[in-house]
Amino acid sequence: RGKRAFIAGIADDNGYGWAIAKSLAAAGAEILIGTWVPALNIFETNLRRGKFDESRTLPDGSLMEITKVYPLDAVYDNPEDVPEDVKMNKRYAGSSNWTVREVAESVKQDFGSIDILVHSLANGPEVSKPLLETSRNGYLAAISASSGASISLTYIASERIIPGYGGGMSSAKAALESDTQVLAFEAGRKHKIRVNTISAGPLGSRAAKAIGFIDMMIDYSLANAPLQKELSADEVGNTAAFLVSPLASAITGAVVYVDNGLNAMGVGV
Ligand code: NAI
Repeated sequence: RGKRAFIAGIADDNGYGWAIAKSLAAAGAEILIGTWVPALNIFETNLRRGKFDESRTLPDGSLMEITKVYPLDAVYDNPEDVPEDVKMNKRYAGSSNWTVREVAESVKQDFGSIDILVHSLANGPEVSKPLLETSRNGYLAAISASSGASISLTYIASERIIPGYGGGMSSAKAALESDTQVLAFEAGRKHKIRVNTISAGPLGSRAAKAIGFIDMMIDYSLANAPLQKELSADEVGNTAAFLVSPLASAITGAVVYVDNGLNAMGVGV
């Protein structure tokens, strides 16, 4: 059979997760998706109504098939961890089995196993606040939602100063990159699983628009990166497909830049 991939963090057709799903589907993988519980309804409705059909089109003209969409909130491991107000929230009450452990169990029941895990989600409630003004809760929430994985998406704010990427998101990405290395060792030794992360350039996704300065970052990259072109989500998708494929069989613990080379610049020009 083809490979089976679970991609966590898709709720529309604009982000990196969607592009990764498409690249994997084009390479013959079966696609399972984890969608944030509050966004599930609208995503499934749009999917059913054909709103994504144009962007679901693969290079061979067929439409990407999504075998199953699971509701997911990556901040909670078990039902016991979910606070009352979230449980009672009407955007959550309609769904069940959406904590990380329950989703893993559901996938296991439905399919037995997966071959590829993609973490393409982040949430920094205080991302628009400087780190200096970030609350403990905001900081911990950013770390909780935004680190951990098998292949994941990171951002250069982990290692260089990017003013405006606040709320502990820079810290979350630093944790993610460090975890990528340690997990590569542990999962590599124990299960022969490879763990990598893509440090992506700026993309005007839904999450990025919440930060507030994404257009400025896209313009900055266009002006200063070695490759002067807008970064497309597909370029990140294709790199992810490569990294999880046998072509990358010796690559693990790596941060791979897909940013038109911007990370290599020392000064703006
Ligand atoms: P996106 O909005 O398409 O994806 C983020 C997803 O995370 C959304 O679908 C959202 O519903 C989901 N999400 C948030 N909290 C969640 C939770 N607790 N449980 C489950 N799902 C949750 O945006 P984008 O930009 O494609 O983000 C994907 C990844 O790419 C993120 O890790 C982001 O930090 C990273 N990235 C994005 C860059 C950009 O410029 N857009 C640059 C570098 C990295």
